[in-house]
Amino acid sequence: MADMMWAGRFSKQVDETVNAFNSSIAFDGRMYRHDIQGSIAHATMLGDCGIITKEDSLEIIGGLKEILADIDSGKLELDPTAEDIHMFIEAELTKRLGDVGKRLHTSRSRNDQVAVDLRLYLRDEIAEIYAMVKKLAVTLVTMAKEHTETIMPGYTHLQRAQPVTLAHHLMAYVWMLLRDMERLQDVSKRMNYCPLGSGALAGTTYKTNRKQTAELLGFTAPMPNSLDGVSDRDYCVELCCALSLLMTHLSRFSEEIIMWCSWEFKFVELDDAFATGSSIMPQKKNPDVTELIRGKTGRVNGDLVTLLTMMKGIPLAYNKDMQEDKEAIFDAVDNVKLCVKTFIPMLATMRVLKENMRNAAAKGFINATDCADYLVKKGMPFRDAYKITGTLVAECIAKGVVLETLPIEEYRKMTELFTEDVYEAISLDTCVKERKSEGGPSPDAVKEQIALAEKSLELC
Ligand code: ARG
Repeated sequence: MADMMWAGRFSKQVDETVNAFNSSIAFDGRMYRHDIQGSIAHATMLGDCGIITKEDSLEIIGGLKEILADIDSGKLELDPTAEDIHMFIEAELTKRLGDVGKRLHTSRSRNDQVAVDLRLYLRDEIAEIYAMVKKLAVTLVTMAKEHTETIMPGYTHLQRAQPVTLAHHLMAYVWMLLRDMERLQDVSKRMNYCPLGSGALAGTTYKTNRKQTAELLGFTAPMPNSLDGVSDRDYCVELCCALSLLMTHLSRFSEEIIMWCSWEFKFVELDDAFATGSSIMPQKKNPDVTELIRGKTGRVNGDLVTLLTMMKGIPLAYNKDMQEDKEAIFDAVDNVKLCVKTFIPMLATMRVLKENMRNAAAKGFINATDCADYLVKKGMPFRDAYKITGTLVAECIAKGVVLETLPIEEYRKMTELFTEDVYEAISLDTCVKERKSEGGPSPDAVKEQIALAEKSLELC
């Protein structure tokens, strides 16, 4: 094994097991672009500040660009025995440029280097996830527009409660996703401060220009405290938290789709391209995609706990524990992207079985509240109306009928306020149409919130 860059103060080579244990290139290698981007900014600043010569700075930048092109094209492969991506690129630069390459790390530490790399890397990932979530939200709005009149049961406690429309149900998820997007934006904003120049922990004695590197890398400003710059990972925690919430939303929706696919519900039919079969039961068509999303939510939550636990007991500043941040946050980011990417076409190709939704809404005394409200609108106090309707429901259950088929005489035995028009008042269509309060499920009310959501989506 080649000598470590820091081998000077050691009298022995590092043990093979320690080297393998310590190495992070297997998972931080993916940040090579951002590492080079950070190094180019650093080398530019070193040259401009006269810390290294302009010629050396230009040579280093040229060398870094060549390394980037060679890794991109596959000409240069990452060495799996290297300690990490930072050491690998620096060593490669020195291999190519000799002594000039050795000047790159002047007034820098891997501690501020890794901190800046990770922020740059995650900034790009957040932008990608943001665009994907937006696409998912747009997909749902498109579906909602087609289903403003599609009546379905609304549930509480998974018991039929009051009727809604499918558009209303879908739009509930759109608002959750819009908040998820806002959270991602928030994290991005707070994360966008530059730790480069913090050095190992205590800044540097060189006359550096941190504003310049921050600006070159597109950060809002340098981080004001060097200890904080190298030692916090709150942006990873925050991002993972935003991703956990996003996954929680996808998972709840997935759980619903899993139920909706069952023979017991049969509200939707997945496209054959987005379902799977069984190895033994020929009749099976399984909603694996949604089950995997539900399952992977646990995994992303696990990543969040990993990050929080990793950070909670480490003193300032850098500690090697923090190398564990990458596998956790990368796992969360990768899995979220996989989920959203698969979910979008699955939803877009899903067939809605409107009749079944409507039939389910027509049962289960879903219009009982409306029956009580009918009496309230005729002057009865709500609590009395509620009690009378409850008694009528019990009577219907005993007789094996529903409110729509209960004879008017039975109604009038309870109160004379009931007249023939009660049937119109409790019809499914009326129950939906009349729920036109702001944010409600009636076609008109939903159209309003669709317009509102579309406006928000246009702005993001
Ligand atoms: N691979 C390390 C990490 O991901 C880079 C920082 C190493 N710094 C150090 N002082 N050992 O955290």
